[in-house]
Amino acid sequence: MKHLLKMLDLSKEEILEILNLADQLKYELKHGIEHKHLSGKTLGMIFQKPSTRTRVSFETGIYQLGGYGMFLSANGLQIGRGEPIRDTARVLSRYVDGVMIRTFDQEEVETFAKYSSVPVINGLTDFSHPCQVLADLMTVREHKGTLEGLKMCYIGDGNNMANSLTVGCLKVGMNVSLACPEGYYPDPVVLEFAAGYGDKFKLTNDCFEAVKDADVVFTDVWASMGQESEAQQRKLAFEGYQVNSELLSHARPDCMVQHCLPAHRGEEITDEVFEAHADEIFDEAENRLHAQKAVMVILMK
Ligand code: CP
Ligand code: NVA
Repeated sequence: MKHLLKMLDLSKEEILEILNLADQLKYELKHGIEHKHLSGKTLGMIFQKPSTRTRVSFETGIYQLGGYGMFLSANGLQIGRGEPIRDTARVLSRYVDGVMIRTFDQEEVETFAKYSSVPVINGLTDFSHPCQVLADLMTVREHKGTLEGLKMCYIGDGNNMANSLTVGCLKVGMNVSLACPEGYYPDPVVLEFAAGYGDKFKLTNDCFEAVKDADVVFTDVWASMGQESEAQQRKLAFEGYQVNSELLSHARPDCMVQHCLPAHRGEEITDEVFEAHADEIFDEAENRLHAQKAVMVILMK
């Protein structure tokens, strides 16, 4: 593994290696065991979109590993004035030991990685959010003890989270059911990948069909970053695609609820469901730190 660009690039073994190391690093942190695997190394962090979790967990994570995280707002870089990505990649490669990028187009991250001589980590694009899904899988495994054979249900927009969850969950042996409104399906590349899993994958417009006997239910915002101007139109399109207690009563009684955050209560999830599952959701947020530390150690050590 040279970079972390999207879940499609990872094998099941690579995913499990990350999760196992993440569990170990979490244990070491909680027990005060030193784990400065990246002593003296620098991570450049380019942000083209806002962030709370990704920024703080990467910056804290690299610090805990003995390294240094450098926040780089894309608007403050020459990228913002049109310097090509392939030049920026070659320049930063001469200074830092790894680069994390959050941007719009997946192609930008792929191009950056192509020209970079240091590892590149995707911190979210419109197509994928692999760091989040690694933390999600870690959290589900922590709570359920296993991943293989569990049923993951995703309700809502076929966005970056739906794309990455579908691929990640199928790769580790989970069953995947998505309920998305027509016109808001996951990326065709993901649907083609999922089709190879036969009846382990289902895409429907019916939330109740998707949620039946689910072990874990995920949802995400109806309007992702960059889609703010479509918010009203999307509210109409996603009416009924809400994770609420009625819907959850059709899942397994011990069903977990996960949300990558930030959440819009009253839209994709009710306040009642969110608060009833808050511990699991904030474990998920915490696990961003541990999962990303594992990714950095594997890529940058
Ligand atoms: N879940 C997530 O990536 O959060 P941020 O946008 O706050 O980084
Ligand atoms: N789908 C959301 C995820 C935020 C972490 C977005 O892209 O804005």
